[in-house]
Amino acid sequence: MYMKASLVALALVLPAAASPITSGLGTRIPFQKRNTLTDSEGMFDFAKAARQVARDHNKHRNNLQNLERNVGRHAFNEGAEIKPFMPVPALARRQSESLTDENHDEYWAGNIGIGTPFQQFLVDFDTGSSDLWVPSTNCSDAQFAKKKKYDPTVSSTGVRTDKEFILRYGDGSSVSGPVWQEVIQVASITVKDQYFAPVHILSDSFAPETDDGILGLAFQSLSNIHEPPFVNNAKAQGAIKDAVFGFRIAKTGSELYIGGTDASQYTGDIEYHSVVGNTGYWQIGGGQLTLGSTVVSSGMKTIIDSGTTLIYGPPDMVAKLYSNIPGSAVYQQNKEFYTYPCANVPSNITLSWGGKQWTISADNFKAGKADSTHCVGAISAKDLGLGDNVWLVGDSFMKNVYTAFSFEQNSVGFAVLN
Ligand SMILES: *[C@@H]1O[C@H](CO)[C@@H](O)[C@H](O)[C@H]1NC(C)=O
Ligand SMILES: *[C@@H]1O[C@H](CO)[C@@H](O)[C@H](O)[C@H]1NC(C)=O
Repeated sequence: MYMKASLVALALVLPAAASPITSGLGTRIPFQKRNTLTDSEGMFDFAKAARQVARDHNKHRNNLQNLERNVGRHAFNEGAEIKPFMPVPALARRQSESLTDENHDEYWAGNIGIGTPFQQFLVDFDTGSSDLWVPSTNCSDAQFAKKKKYDPTVSSTGVRTDKEFILRYGDGSSVSGPVWQEVIQVASITVKDQYFAPVHILSDSFAPETDDGILGLAFQSLSNIHEPPFVNNAKAQGAIKDAVFGFRIAKTGSELYIGGTDASQYTGDIEYHSVVGNTGYWQIGGGQLTLGSTVVSSGMKTIIDSGTTLIYGPPDMVAKLYSNIPGSAVYQQNKEFYTYPCANVPSNITLSWGGKQWTISADNFKAGKADSTHCVGAISAKDLGLGDNVWLVGDSFMKNVYTAFSFEQNSVGFAVLN
């Protein structure tokens, strides 16, 4: 009788106890630090930044196309539209040579295994897209010679499907290949039959990256393959208990934690905010950007994207931000970047979502030096077509906080980094 009663009590208690976002049950995946948009002297590398802006633009153009095809235009944010391609500026020859030799890892990359036995790849963990792709042995283009290639002939578990994967880029190229199903291992998490794309065509814009491919961590509705992404599949197969993951992005000790959040990386509670809309993005609403006591923008929708270095906002709002920073100006007639006096770095820029105000440190706000006295800000002006007052918030913000992503509660949370 007593036993039975306590079992009933347990049964009633468990679902509630299981619903908070868990910590301590997951798996750590260390990854490498991404460089900023600077050269070795800390100078802002405009050519590099311009290529990255174009790539970010085209990435989100691809996302919107996937969303339209998977769900329909009704899932778009108000005011969203699929913008024309943005041409990717060509690499100067000299730069292209040094870039392939140096460690220009702009993306947060960590190792994963694909196939049986595992073939190892360095991938960018990207909360702003939803597919996994790596180059295949069918990719013979010399500029990708240094990238690892998936070889299905030495794996006993790969199965080719009849699906095709294609992301188009503004340089007229694409990232494309057939869709396969394989065993994927990320740290100790192993998932079978994961849909992924071993691509034989890669856009030139991926040549300078040291990572081989991308592992998308956003929702299935953004997926070009339109199958469950890795984390969702891991949950469905019982490889993780909760479809929750957390990012610590820092100069040292960066890690992705899958299956919960890593409580050793933050202090206090995680402040969670529900995902708004059905855009397939980790998008939260009610955002506010302040500079000191000045509210620059409110009612913002913010997409939290670990695959983006900068923060992009609507051009009028970004102009308003810099107009409140004494001595700031548009950078070299370019309408996307702004400079400010390095001696007067704003250290009071915050983002908030109705709770704590999360400060963007002076160091993280600085994208690089424009000259001996001026610096380029990490908040840049660009309408990516994601919707009215939608901001794309990349790691210039994420480096200031611990960020948690929960499919269980459909929410994104922030906590104070240790
Ligand atoms: C490479 O190309 C061959 C010939 O088209 C094809 O049979 C094979 O499946 C391809 N491999 C991958 C990984 O796509
Ligand atoms: C915020 O920073 C800007 C730029 O450094 C400065 O001009 C302003 O006085 C600061 N505001 C507050 C309230 O500290």
